[in-house]
Order: sequence, then C-alpha cells, then structure tokens
Amino acid sequence: MDPHYCLRTIYPFIIILIISLNSIGCKSQLSPTFYDTTCPNALTIIRTSVRTAVSRQRRMAALLIRLHFHDCFVQGCDASILLNDPITTERTTFSNVGVGGYEVIDAVKTAVENICPGVVSCADILAVAARDATVAVGGPSWSVGLGRRDSTAAFPDQANSDLPRGDQDLQSLISDFEAKGLTERDMVALSGAHTIGQSRCAAFRARIHGNGSAIEANFATTRRRSCPFSRGEGDQIMAPLDLVTPNSFDNNYFRNLVQRRGLLHSDQVLFNGGSSDSIVLEYSNSPSRFASDFAAAMVKMGEIEPRTGVDGGDKDYLQCRQLRKRKIQAYVIGRDMYINFLGHDSWVTITVS
Ligand code: HEM
Repeated sequence: MDPHYCLRTIYPFIIILIISLNSIGCKSQLSPTFYDTTCPNALTIIRTSVRTAVSRQRRMAALLIRLHFHDCFVQGCDASILLNDPITTERTTFSNVGVGGYEVIDAVKTAVENICPGVVSCADILAVAARDATVAVGGPSWSVGLGRRDSTAAFPDQANSDLPRGDQDLQSLISDFEAKGLTERDMVALSGAHTIGQSRCAAFRARIHGNGSAIEANFATTRRRSCPFSRGEGDQIMAPLDLVTPNSFDNNYFRNLVQRRGLLHSDQVLFNGGSSDSIVLEYSNSPSRFASDFAAAMVKMGEIEPRTGVDGGDKDYLQCRQLRKRKIQAYVIGRDMYINFLGHDSWVTITVS
C-alpha cells in the first residue's frame, strides 16, 4: 500500500485523538480522591488544624467559610484571594473588608507542605477548610471535590464587582449568583451561612436606622444602642448575624428573617414579600432541608470555574500568600519602594527623598 495514502488516511484520526486528549486535560473534573495516592494524610491534617483553630476561637469557622466564598466568586475557586501583594491584591478591596482566617490557611498549608511538598493546592485547602469549619460548629458535611489549581494572579477589580454587598436588593442578589451558575434557591441556602459570624455596624447601620417596616421594632432598638446613626461612629462595632444562636450552625437565621430580625439589608430581602419567601419559610421549618441544601450548594459553589488539569495554571506555591519562586518581592511606586521578604504579611516601605 502507498505509505502516503496510509498517512493521509490516519492523519484525521491522529488530529482528533490529540484534540480529545487536550480537552480531557482541560476539563478534568474535581475528585474527592485526588490526593489519595499523592498525599493521603492531607485531609486529616486540614481537619485537625481547622478543629483546633475553631476550638480556640469559635468565630474562625465563620471566617473560613466566608473566605472560601470570597475566593470562589472572583474568577473561580483558585485561591487568588490569598495572594498578598501590595499592588494587585484582593485582600484590601472594599468587598473584602472584614475577611479573615488567612493565618489559619497559612498554618494549614505549612503543615501540609511538611508532609507532601508541592502537592496540595491552596484552593483545595480553602474548600476543605470551609467544610471542616461548618462541621466544627454543628453544620452538615459533604464530600469535597479536589484538584483545583491555584491562580498566579489576583483580581481586585472583579472582587469589587462580583462579590455581593449587604445593601443589595433581591433581584440583584439573584443575578449575581446566577452569573456564577447558582440558582435563587442556592443563593438562599448559602446565605444561611449567616447563621454564624458577625457583621460590622458600618454594614448594617442603614438598615437599623431606616424607617422601613421590614424590621422588627425591638430588634432595631437593641441594635441601635451599639451602632450609632452617624457615619464613622462605631463603624467597627460588631453584632451577630444570627441573634439567637450566633455560634451554632442551625436554621435560626431563617427563623429570624421570618420575624424580620435579619441584620443585613441583603438578609431581610430574602423574606420581604418576594419570590424567595417560600424558600426561607421552608428552611425556617426544616433544619434538615436547610442542611442538605446548604451542603449541595457549597459543592456547587466550590466548582465555580475550577482551574484543573494541565491548563489550570501554576500550582507551585510554598505559601498561599506568595508565589514560591519570589522569595523577595519589590515594587517601586513614585518615590516609595515596597519590599517583602519570604512572604511575610508586612511590607517594608522605603521612601527615597
Ligand atoms: C447573598 C449575598 C451575601 C451578601 C450580600 C453578604 C454580605 C455579608 C456582609 C456585609 C457581612 C458582614 C461583613 C462585615 O461587616 O465585616 C457578611 C458576613 C459573613 N458572610 Fe456573607 N454575604 C452573602 C453571602 C454569603 C455566603 C454565600 C456565605 C458563605 C457561604 C457567607 C458567609 C458569611 C459569613 C460566615 C459571615 C460572617 C463573617 C465574620 O464573622 O466575620 N455570606 N456577609
């Protein structure tokens, strides 16, 4: 047989094979067993570290759950929120004021690196830590798909545009979540994370001092005592998002909403005569329904635009806050030079006179 004829015949098949292999690489799915052979103890280490951190400070559970949410809503769950660079960081954006738990993730990463260097991604650590934090305060558990790769860049502009704010109305919250592939029902279930944690006066002042009927009078009076009307006064004073059981993961958040005792405007709009009223009522009557929907929605949230497989980006991190190969980072802005050594949180500033 003419060898050229043979090659011409099999060429198309070779090309199809290459394209298929590539697309398998790009679309590879998250899997709960991803580290079973490469780092079998990773999940145990994360769980132990998170339990210890939460037993020291109960609020840490809230911080870790929120950290994962704020990671996933900005270019997907890629740990970009952890990168700490003075010029392009998501950490200092308006939307991330009050976000914390970074030091716990750093400690977990160090512990995991000690047993399996360069294997477990920071984005996976965030996802597992959010699940373990939920369980540590009495919430449901779920199986976390793994294999996310970390981003080498942060996206501060998207952090400000894509993360929802506490003054938003129902329709815009629904749109924000739909833009991430999450339904209205997912959004309501996920908002149930506000069954734990706290908010700053600055974030709920307008609601408690407004004249609207959507707030129960005694609740408003109590909250006004520690959150003055004037902007700037007491901005940092905290109040629990769930006034009944602020440290336990239960369905009291939804019961509060039915009684018009939601702390944030964005909480109360979920039960204020709109399309989500029925979902709030359902969760307020059924803790188990809330728990299972929350778990399912967290799995969906954890799968927003995952970077996986060969085209997923650089996973070569030593610490989650900084890229491995950049042991010393320096930036010059005007007459100021910012220098960071070995990924420390603080930056040294030198001003040239
Ligand atoms: C529906 C849209 C949402 C809005 C508008 C929103 C807004 C807020 C605001 C304004 C705070 C208080 C921040 C502060 O004062 O420092 C807060 C706290 C919190 N959020 Fe959300 N959030 C939303 C959804 C979520 C979701 C989906 C999760 C997680 C699955 C979540 C978890 C938390 C937690 C745990 C806290 C308490 C954090 C702490 O104690 O510091 N939130 N949220």
